[in-house]
Amino acid sequence: MYNSKIIGLGKYLPENIVTNDDLSRMMDTSDEWIQERTGIKERRWIKEGTDDSSAVMGAKAAEIAIERSGLTKDDIDFIVFATLSPDMYFPGCGVQIQDMLDMRTVGALDVRNQCSGFVYGISVADQFIKTGMYKNILVIGAEFHSGGLEKSTRGRGVTVIFGDGAGAAVLTREEDKTKGILSTHLHSEGKHAKELVVEGPSIMHWVPEILEANDPDDVSYYPYMNGTFVFKHAVVRFSEAIMEGLKTNNLNKEDIDMLIPHQANLRISQFIQKKFGLSDDQVFNNIQRYGNTTAASIPIALTEAWEQGKIKEGDKVVLVAFGSGFTWGSVIINW
Ligand code: UT7
Repeated sequence: MYNSKIIGLGKYLPENIVTNDDLSRMMDTSDEWIQERTGIKERRWIKEGTDDSSAVMGAKAAEIAIERSGLTKDDIDFIVFATLSPDMYFPGCGVQIQDMLDMRTVGALDVRNQCSGFVYGISVADQFIKTGMYKNILVIGAEFHSGGLEKSTRGRGVTVIFGDGAGAAVLTREEDKTKGILSTHLHSEGKHAKELVVEGPSIMHWVPEILEANDPDDVSYYPYMNGTFVFKHAVVRFSEAIMEGLKTNNLNKEDIDMLIPHQANLRISQFIQKKFGLSDDQVFNNIQRYGNTTAASIPIALTEAWEQGKIKEGDKVVLVAFGSGFTWGSVIINW
């Protein structure tokens, strides 16, 4: 058995910046409400007419991650792609990456675990590397939210939160069992599936039926979120997942050098920071600039923290996520 470690990180954000004031011209909202409730100042939304999509953005982030890893695309043995906004209903984005990056015919797996997608993806990659089945794995988190949001007052509770973007990591084998990814922890509670959901288009909410009914009140294909309910569960599950990871590795909260929480809401991050007694330098947030990019949020934040020199060799880095499903999880890394 081996450990795995992250040796390359990359991110891609579409150029188009959408401010809170821009949103208040589309719907009844305000910069004050959005900043006070979420901490978000602006987000990136793919501009109509550009080629960007979840797969395209993922490919751009992946190219950077591979280059920084010192490997080439031919060294990659497996692709894991996490997204809730795939380019196509099927096949998933993973195979598009195999094609776009002109890679060998390696396996490509799509992970559908929303905000926890990257944590799930890292865990999957870690297991394959641990057993020795694969040596180098590319894990991508990418989201094209803006194409599927309801840009009117009816959708404001969700629409102001989400942004587009992509992040990627290259994992490789680590022979030293005290280094790299020390453990991953995954959970789900499906009874809350409908508290944060897009019901259609799906086999249950099939497009011809939706189109035929032409019902202006049918919002099944827009995201729905019971925000307060989700918020309350998020703070509990974030804490539990961090504690579980620390306990597994005989670590204390004082051992955390860098916490990268899924960027769901700045208030959630601040709550967790306070609960674990961490300083501003020990928690990385960029939701202010990018909004919530679900599966892309952790790899984008991790990439930025690393680019800014905030993660050094030997640091204990904790990734933690919670989202639709409900799903949640954590990753404990000795960088
Ligand atoms: O990433 C996956 C996990 N996601 C999360 O963890 C998100 C968790 N939830 C949240 O972040 C927060 O619940 C939200 C930011 C979504 C909402 O904040 P809130 O403080 O829970 O607000 P609320 O939903 O209770 O709404 C308060 C009021 C309502 O008006 P009334 O009923 O009090 O008159 C809403 O209609 O704010 C209204 N409202 C808005 N007003 C202006 C909702 N959205 C908006 C908006 N602009 N965009």
